[in-house]
Amino acid sequence: MAVYTDNHGFFSIVTKNTEYQIQADKYGVLKHIWYGSKVNADMSYLLNYPDVGFSGNPYDAGNDRRYSLNTLPLEYSCDGIGDYRIPAVSVIHSNGSKALDLRYKDYKITKGKYSINGLPAVYADENDAETLEITLCDTATKTEVILRYGVIEKYDIITRCAVIRNCGEKSLKIKRASSLCIDIPQGEWEWIHFHGRHTLERIPERQPIFHGIQESSSTRGTSSHQQNPSVILCSPDCTETNGECIGAFFVYSGSFQIQTELDQLGQIRLTMGLNPELFEWNLNSGEEFETPEAVMTYSNKGFSKLSYNFHKIIRENICRGKYKLAERPVLINNWEATYFDFDDEKILKIAEQASKLGVDMLVLDDGWFGKRDDDNSGLGDWFVNNNKIHGGLKSLTEKIKNMGMKFGIWFEPEMISEDSELYRKHPDWAIQIPDRKPMRGRFQLVLDMSREDVQNYLFDVMSKILKSADISYVKWDMNRSISDWYSSELDSEHQGELPHRYMLGLYALLERLTGEFPDILFEGCSGGGGRFDAGMLYYCPQIWCSDDTDAFERTKIQYGTSYIYPVSAVGSHVSTVPNHQTGRITPIETRAVTAMAGSFGYELDLNTLSDDEKTAVTEQIKRFKKYGSLIHNGNYYRLTNPLKDKSAVWSYVSESMDEILVHGIIYRTEPNMNRKTVKLAGLDESAEYMNTENGKFYKGSALMNGGILLPESWGDYYPIEIHLIKAN
Ligand code: GLA
Repeated sequence: MAVYTDNHGFFSIVTKNTEYQIQADKYGVLKHIWYGSKVNADMSYLLNYPDVGFSGNPYDAGNDRRYSLNTLPLEYSCDGIGDYRIPAVSVIHSNGSKALDLRYKDYKITKGKYSINGLPAVYADENDAETLEITLCDTATKTEVILRYGVIEKYDIITRCAVIRNCGEKSLKIKRASSLCIDIPQGEWEWIHFHGRHTLERIPERQPIFHGIQESSSTRGTSSHQQNPSVILCSPDCTETNGECIGAFFVYSGSFQIQTELDQLGQIRLTMGLNPELFEWNLNSGEEFETPEAVMTYSNKGFSKLSYNFHKIIRENICRGKYKLAERPVLINNWEATYFDFDDEKILKIAEQASKLGVDMLVLDDGWFGKRDDDNSGLGDWFVNNNKIHGGLKSLTEKIKNMGMKFGIWFEPEMISEDSELYRKHPDWAIQIPDRKPMRGRFQLVLDMSREDVQNYLFDVMSKILKSADISYVKWDMNRSISDWYSSELDSEHQGELPHRYMLGLYALLERLTGEFPDILFEGCSGGGGRFDAGMLYYCPQIWCSDDTDAFERTKIQYGTSYIYPVSAVGSHVSTVPNHQTGRITPIETRAVTAMAGSFGYELDLNTLSDDEKTAVTEQIKRFKKYGSLIHNGNYYRLTNPLKDKSAVWSYVSESMDEILVHGIIYRTEPNMNRKTVKLAGLDESAEYMNTENGKFYKGSALMNGGILLPESWGDYYPIEIHLIKAN
């Protein structure tokens, strides 16, 4: 049992190590009481009711000036009724008024985890999860909000979403619908968000929280390179292994908004949800709207434990399908090897060399379809270009299969080029506003994914390709931000719904295609990591992490990514040098240890390598096969901070703590350099561990408190690999 209630409005959600408390008080106002360590005690004694000037009082509180919605920690804050902090929900009623005064109505506790119509969400079986639903009601308008909590006890995970239901007779418009709202009345907190740009995604930035509102958001129609839909609040002393932190990520791939506000009393509110800049929803009488899901965890053992909880829940309860826990094929992708300039002969040469070196699968990237010799044309025309792929896909695939490899292919389904057969036939399928020239991104326009005819076209044309040959993998790309929102299918009253309808359409198509082709491994992509989020991971268990394949830069990107997302979700490849994004030269071994922190592959023409490098590639693939299960199933630890330190070091520790792989890079070598130590994490302190390379023994407590000595380095970007096994 994870959810307890006293049947008088007090609820406690208890997980393995955490506790979350809510209380409906005598007025029916739902207050947030506690989110932190497991306490087994009612924490409402901590609430205080100061009489704060200019903080009004609800009518039913009479002349109790100490009772104000503007000062109390609330569970789901409303608009228009005197709480001047961030509202979790905002609606416009049919008479134009905005006030929503949600009071407690009833609750329901059920076994298992709720699901959300048409949206990705955590799933779990009955034995692993419980659901609490609390219904709140605004009696004046009969608007209800049902707060849903999903509890995955063993991973200290609480999920949240809200259902807004119009039980009144008149229609209303939802302007803002948060999935999560949490008030933290006490303590000092900092916040970490993950920002970036194309080719430099998810860089953690930690800042004290200042009075007022700070925000991390996207209005791009995708979760974006610029801000990731995830956040961490932490105590100022929080480190990888100590201190308190609360994390949350959004299971959604479109525009989002995360806000945190430090109020006049030093209390913090955190909200996460659809971005109100790009959202509104009409709710007729009798209809309901379900928000996407937010997933939270709390750790009092620093960021490592927070990441552990998130990695587990994403890998086991968000990713789906045959590949979610399976070994992923080592792939070779031709993009950086050829860009658009290829034909079947060139591809076969790349494949042949790759197969000799032990690669499992060839992925044919952009340029195989329609008229597509550069990025100006062809998107939407998903039929094979026989001038490039002579003999067609089946023949190419068969030849690759005869080399002992599988075959995968690239699509960018949501896009349309103006220079395409599809656009000439269906210009109205592109998102653009009548009488206005649309904004182009990479010279392309975006298909209106809210339309069923568009979804059906894509389903049919992609299915046809996927059935035409033995295809084992699909890379699902999306290469621009969306603007000029307008759908020729919607009337003016409903245009504001398009951004969310787009996402519902995209998810519906992904659901259909992944259902139709359960044996195909889908990898997400958006100019690298522009849509790296838990929503996409529900359909695609891995996502191309970044278009930056430079090993040094990747250590920063993968470091930030690892706070929330598991290693198996990270698509990561060894590419050529000088690197195509930075011109940097790094050793091939360095590129390999970095790429192994993910779903591993190569992205270059292996024919161009020297014999020594080719031998190295064969060895690397063997090593990835040997350690792959430890890398993907083990617990991941960040051992240095590559944004500050002179090295990037990380480790994978098996759940049983009997095997450890330390990987990393020493960035620069200096003459007469002192060898640095790095403390390991997550070991059995009392065990003896043996370094399998030199047979030396170390006590677990020594490795955790004193650390390991990093190797003597030579040259810049020196690779590290240390493998330890438990000896007793
Ligand atoms: C995006 C992807 C790349 C490649 C190109 C093809 O940028 O991130 O990996 O697929 O598109 O156009």
